[in-house]
Amino acid sequence: MAGAVYIKTYGCQMNEYDSARLADLLFETHGLVRVDDPSRADILLVNSCSVREKAQEKLFSDLGRLNEWKASRPGVVIGVGGCVASQEGEDIRRRAPYVDFVFGPQTLHRVPDLLADARARNPRVDITFAELEKFDRLPEPRADGPRAFVSIMEGCSKYCSFCVVPYTRGQEFSRPFDDVLAEVAALAEQGVREVTLLGQNVNAYRGRRRDGRTADLATLIGYVAEIDEIGRIRFTTSHPLEFGETLFDAFASERKLVSHLHLPVQSGSDDVLARMKRGYRVDWYRDKVAKLKSVRPDISLSTDLIVGFPGETERDFAATLALVDEMRFDLSYSFAYSPRPGTPAAALPDDVPAHVKAQRLAKVQALNLEHAAAISRRMVGRLERVLVDRQAPRGRGDLSGRTENNRVVNFPGGGEDLVGRFATVEITEARPNSLRGRLVAAEAGVSSAILEKREAAIS
Ligand code: SAM
Ligand code: F3S
Repeated sequence: MAGAVYIKTYGCQMNEYDSARLADLLFETHGLVRVDDPSRADILLVNSCSVREKAQEKLFSDLGRLNEWKASRPGVVIGVGGCVASQEGEDIRRRAPYVDFVFGPQTLHRVPDLLADARARNPRVDITFAELEKFDRLPEPRADGPRAFVSIMEGCSKYCSFCVVPYTRGQEFSRPFDDVLAEVAALAEQGVREVTLLGQNVNAYRGRRRDGRTADLATLIGYVAEIDEIGRIRFTTSHPLEFGETLFDAFASERKLVSHLHLPVQSGSDDVLARMKRGYRVDWYRDKVAKLKSVRPDISLSTDLIVGFPGETERDFAATLALVDEMRFDLSYSFAYSPRPGTPAAALPDDVPAHVKAQRLAKVQALNLEHAAAISRRMVGRLERVLVDRQAPRGRGDLSGRTENNRVVNFPGGGEDLVGRFATVEITEARPNSLRGRLVAAEAGVSSAILEKREAAIS
């Protein structure tokens, strides 16, 4: 073996995508194989996240542990990338001098050079915003199972007052339309059947086409759907403000687009939304959801929520709880607000005490769990289209897959090797973290009675 690389990833799916591409790159340039155990690796990399304070602090405690591996094995190199790297730059090496190089989300394609320099005892920090250079310099992606992420844009220009992303990942920049399609087609050839189009503000996608015109997300979805082997399309994360007519049309007409949408609302209070600079009011969000349901009645929604934003009163928080109750989100990622350096909200007094934030967080999470459990229970008895992605971890020949609303379903496979295929599964039981089911039929390709039914309903 030429050597091994360990990559610890924090944060969003874009970071996961970046880590996977970095692993592909290091395999191609150095023959390095990605391993899950740091004690077996020669290169230790951390792809960090700075969206919340906790994630940032975790980086430094992790680095301390990685340094122990380094001390016990001569020649081991440590690199730090991601959003904390982008924000802290040289300070990372000041606080953790054993770090050999630092790279940002836009410079991960330069890691092979940084690694070579580190080995020559020339530690470097490269956190420039090289925009799309990285995509041009990364090798063709290697599929890892039937589901894949494809990053279609970088950065964010929305500047929500609490969020560090526009500063760490830079302004929005869309990948060219044909490059994205080529990447999806290459993944499809390797057995990928479900693709998630990724961006921090993904529905603001405007990719240049070869003829110089630009195409939006709905157009891209239409072209991805033309790739026969792709049977399911997701996209995340959407901003409600960018949810335009063409996307409603896509939900109305594109059967491969899942009946599931992650649409962060952040708060149920208009005052808080205004201070967050989200650019919409609660009623506006409500109307978008109602319109979406009119074209896709079976759509399930997930969301992001922040509690304890500066100035959030009991009344504001009650409005958030009421909205959560009304919307019946399938899943919500809820967070206690933490001020991020350099963001406008960091200048506001962080005046909701920590224990109040914790209480509000627990309340909103409990309510959401109740709704999610009720949705799971209602799925019992229904036929679901499942993409089988692996043998179930606890064996007995069971298979494991995902429904459209991203729930894990385990079911007896009847001895058939269905991994990488779609199947119709009847849900028989709702458990706290997964569903049980019974195989009804395996799809030969990517068409099924469930999709035919949707087509009939939406056309
Ligand atoms: N682009 C997405 C959107 O439209 O909202 C999400 C981006 S952010 C990486 C993921 C989530 O982290 C946000 O939706 C928000 O709920 C949460 N978040 C961001 N900054 C935060 C902060 N300072 N404190 C607590 N949560 C935060
Ligand atoms: Fe952050 Fe708002 Fe963009 S939450 S990623 S600035 S849409």
